[in-house]
Amino acid sequence: MKLKVKTIFCIILLISFIACKEDNIEGDLTAIPYKPDNYVVNLPSHFPPLSTPQDNPLTSQGIQLGRHLFYDPILSADSSMSCASCHLPEFAFTDANATSLGIDGLPGTRSSMSLINVGFVQSGLFWDGRAKTLEDQAILPVEDPIELHNTWPDVVNKLRSHAVYPRMFREAFGIRNTSEITKELAAKAIAQFERIIISKDSKFDRIQQGKDFYTDLELIGQGLYFDNDPDLPDAECGHCHNTPLATSDDFFNNGITQSSTLEGFRTLVVVK
Ligand code: HEC
Ligand code: HEC
Repeated sequence: MKLKVKTIFCIILLISFIACKEDNIEGDLTAIPYKPDNYVVNLPSHFPPLSTPQDNPLTSQGIQLGRHLFYDPILSADSSMSCASCHLPEFAFTDANATSLGIDGLPGTRSSMSLINVGFVQSGLFWDGRAKTLEDQAILPVEDPIELHNTWPDVVNKLRSHAVYPRMFREAFGIRNTSEITKELAAKAIAQFERIIISKDSKFDRIQQGKDFYTDLELIGQGLYFDNDPDLPDAECGHCHNTPLATSDDFFNNGITQSSTLEGFRTLVVVK
């Protein structure tokens, strides 16, 4: 009996070892040309520059790969969710829920953030700023138990044995062999895609450039928002949500008391 238990234990250990290992799936890619095209972002004159890390310049091929990874449920354990499940383009790349649900239907404790103009963030990502760069951030959702609940070795194996991804990694990063596909390169590509999620031609932007005008009602709102007239009551918004990106890229105490539990609040979650 004892031996049986031991054998079963060993088998489980062996399976989990195999399951957690990146396979060295080999495939020579050198016949595929590697000619990345620099991607130039044209920004209006009232925008700050978009800085990109030296080791991850924007290329059309990198952005294309990142876009595929962002929308592909291959990143989740049961192939049911992608980044875009919580960051939907039609909701400014958030999910319009108070807290987001992951692949197991479990709610996290925070609301999914909009990714519009996320490439301009300098002060740290997430509500608490704990991820420094988009490259660091993109690694995390895959293994988050409430989000994609997968392991990177599993994702990397799926990418290495995929019909299309090895070619795309070659074209984006010049890897010579399928076995060179890594989570770091996947994260770099996703970061490139996120850097071009830019909103730069809203009515507000056009007014900043002298190409459009406020309606009378908008003008009153603008005055309150930016505290234009010291003699009138003001809403102080512009101190924290300032031009041109409607954020000062800073962390604030906005006066909302901390909640130790989201019970009660969760009943408000809109489940699609
Ligand atoms: C289950 C829902 C969910 C999934 C799936 C998900 N996210 Fe998020 N995302 C969130 C939530 C919630 C936050 C805020 C979390 C926090 O502050 O702790 C967030 C924050 C972010 C931020 C920070 C934005 C900022 O302005 O600071 C980025 C970038 C991001 N996610 C990208 C991704 C990428 C890339 C993927 C796929 C690899 C992904 N997310 C998958 C829910 C999700
Ligand atoms: C002290 C700084 C501060 C002031 C002043 C301020 N906000 Fe905010 N605002 C924040 C912070 C920080 C957040 C995000 C954190 C949160 O939701 O708790 C936020 C979130 C928001 C959001 C949600 C954005 C999103 O992506 O979900 C809106 C809309 C908003 N503020 C509008 C306003 C308006 C309108 C005013 C003026 C009446 C204002 N804020 C004044 C700091 C401020």
